[in-house]
Amino acid sequence: MPFAPAMKLAMGLIAEAEALAAYGAALANPEPGPIADQIGAVTALLAPDALSDLKPAEATMIRSYIRSFLRQAMDLLENPGRPAGWAFDDPLILENIGQGSKQLVRMIEEIAVKTPALSERMARAGKFLDVGSGVGWISIEAARSWPAFAVEGIDIFDPALALAERNLAQSGLAERVSFRKLSIADLNIRDTYAAAFFAGPFVPAAIVPDALQRLHAAIEPGGWLFFGLFRASPEPLPQALLKLRVLRSGGYPWTPPEVRTLLEAAGFVWHGDQPSDGPAYIVTARKT
Ligand SMILES: C[S@@+](CC[C@H](N)C(=O)[O-])C[C@H]1O[C@@H](n2cnc3c(N)ncnc32)[C@H](O)[C@@H]1O
Repeated sequence: MPFAPAMKLAMGLIAEAEALAAYGAALANPEPGPIADQIGAVTALLAPDALSDLKPAEATMIRSYIRSFLRQAMDLLENPGRPAGWAFDDPLILENIGQGSKQLVRMIEEIAVKTPALSERMARAGKFLDVGSGVGWISIEAARSWPAFAVEGIDIFDPALALAERNLAQSGLAERVSFRKLSIADLNIRDTYAAAFFAGPFVPAAIVPDALQRLHAAIEPGGWLFFGLFRASPEPLPQALLKLRVLRSGGYPWTPPEVRTLLEAAGFVWHGDQPSDGPAYIVTARKT
């Protein structure tokens, strides 16, 4: 492509990236003034009702995703050749992806509403395992949602574990939540957890089959496994971008049918898929 159309292509994409940043800025409710007015003007062009009907926690969650994804996009731009893996030392990337992942606990609650056996189990005392606990928000939210539960988070990345301890100290839930440095590849425990969450997009593909077998052993009979995935619109570009982001995060872009096959090979019984319009997707399975 010659320079002029290449520049035109880039300028169109720059406008979209700047529009996303402006929407994130609008969600932060900026101080009134001429800049805030212009942020509002941009946002109104995106969608006239882009800011209405949003609860504060929902606005915060969308803004967290925008911040995390734009920062990962900047990392792609600055370091296109870096090896795959989850090794960000930018606390804003870690914290914002963690804040966004609170949504996964809401999704598990939605699954429970439709699944009496699950909601009945989550109402009784038990243990929840958060595999790939990051900065800790799924663990902390799980403890909030299921007051009879103790929650254990495991991760291999020291910067995330340190932030998880800080978030836990401020949560008031330290008695029921703990974090430790442990790879899922080294989990050796039997019939212990009533439910577990697996951060599917971040765990290297080569260890996932063994990890799922270890989780099958670790979960109590009748217990539940939630395999988290990212999702995107079905068009080719969002799908290609999702694969790029997951590969750079160190994971593999499994499809939901592939996850079902993996879960069944590890001994689980597939229970169902929980799609959403957001960035997350959960495949649920059960140990019989
Ligand atoms: C980005 S976090 C997901 C967000 C997280 N729910 C939060 O609240 O921050 C996924 C984590 O999986 C971890 N991970 C990758 N491989 C792992 C393994 N083999 N065992 C345990 N955790 C692993 C990464 O270190 C990363 O922190």
